[in-house]
Amino acid sequence: MRFSVTFFPLLIISLSANSQDLVNSIKPGQVWPDNQGKHINAHGGGILYYNKTYYWFGESRLPRTEKDKSNYGVSCYSSKDLLNWKNEGLALRVISDTASLLLPGCVIERPKVIYNKKTGKFVMWFHHELKGQGYKAAMTGVAVSDNITGPYKYLRSLRPNAGVWPKNFPEEFKKAKAGEEILKSWSKEWVDAVKEGLFVRRDFEGGQMARDMTLYVDKNGKAYHVHSSEENMTLHFSELTDDYLDFTGTYVRVLPGDSNEAPAIFFAKGKYYMFTSGTTGWKPNPGRLSVASKLLGEWKTVGNPCRGTEDENKITFGSQSTHILPVEGKKNAFIYMGDRWIPDNLADSRHIWLPIEWEEGLPVIKWYKGWDITNLK
Ligand code: GAL
Repeated sequence: MRFSVTFFPLLIISLSANSQDLVNSIKPGQVWPDNQGKHINAHGGGILYYNKTYYWFGESRLPRTEKDKSNYGVSCYSSKDLLNWKNEGLALRVISDTASLLLPGCVIERPKVIYNKKTGKFVMWFHHELKGQGYKAAMTGVAVSDNITGPYKYLRSLRPNAGVWPKNFPEEFKKAKAGEEILKSWSKEWVDAVKEGLFVRRDFEGGQMARDMTLYVDKNGKAYHVHSSEENMTLHFSELTDDYLDFTGTYVRVLPGDSNEAPAIFFAKGKYYMFTSGTTGWKPNPGRLSVASKLLGEWKTVGNPCRGTEDENKITFGSQSTHILPVEGKKNAFIYMGDRWIPDNLADSRHIWLPIEWEEGLPVIKWYKGWDITNLK
């Protein structure tokens, strides 16, 4: 009798540890348990489909409440069905070596991984802020691996496109304008000066700022590093070299002065689409949708892609875009991936995944408390 009393609770423990419930629908904003029952710790991330498997890379955040927002690397999870994710561990981790910029205490954000068919290597780029410097460094880091899950070898961090002008930069923008250094931030004259290249000129020699970022591989295999530059006021689309490990120096400014962050790009129905956010830090703001016929061509912002209540649209359903995922085997099925940041405990930030729907020829998102991925057309 005494034996069975002690045995009973043990049985419960072992049952709950082994009988992991399968996830069968997407529940935006709720805890999303991985194969070990822990909330998926991959934030500001992206997904790469390879060898019939989805690999989700994201910021691995520390569960803590301090002001310090540094993190220790990039996590990787794998899944066949986009619902049940196996924790593959850290794909990239900080390096305890003072000679490395990837020191513990640095900030690694919005990592994205792409596969290079020519070299057979997986290439990771990420927004990199240096230890103890807040968001001042505005660099991008690159790492490479032979295996998709890593470990990724850190190569370097840099500010891109030092010493080269953007392709779409008129001759007259290349010279500093009299009095530009004393313009009052956010005055109309200052915003106009930014549009006309104030920060591009300032950062010409040292390289352009790179904060929120994504990667996009175009149909011809050319890859682009897309990032918020110029004090987050203008996006830069920068071409990567054939091995994806460096910048070629060809880049264009997109939507100058419009303050876009959190870029996520996809191609559908003959056009390029980009979801972005405004610049309010961890707080969500109204999402934005932009369209272009050519990746490096003219981008036009066409409004907020959210189709909810006014309050929901103002905060993009409480999220900030990070990636638009093409669902394999379905021609026009895409998933909006966003982050609902919890700044006091970033590890607990929630994943807002919503199906992309089409309305009057434009991709839009609506709120669903729970939705079935098999319904995607
Ligand atoms: C957001 C950005 C996040 C993070 C945050 C820090 O605007 O999208 O990735 O950098 O600011 O405040």
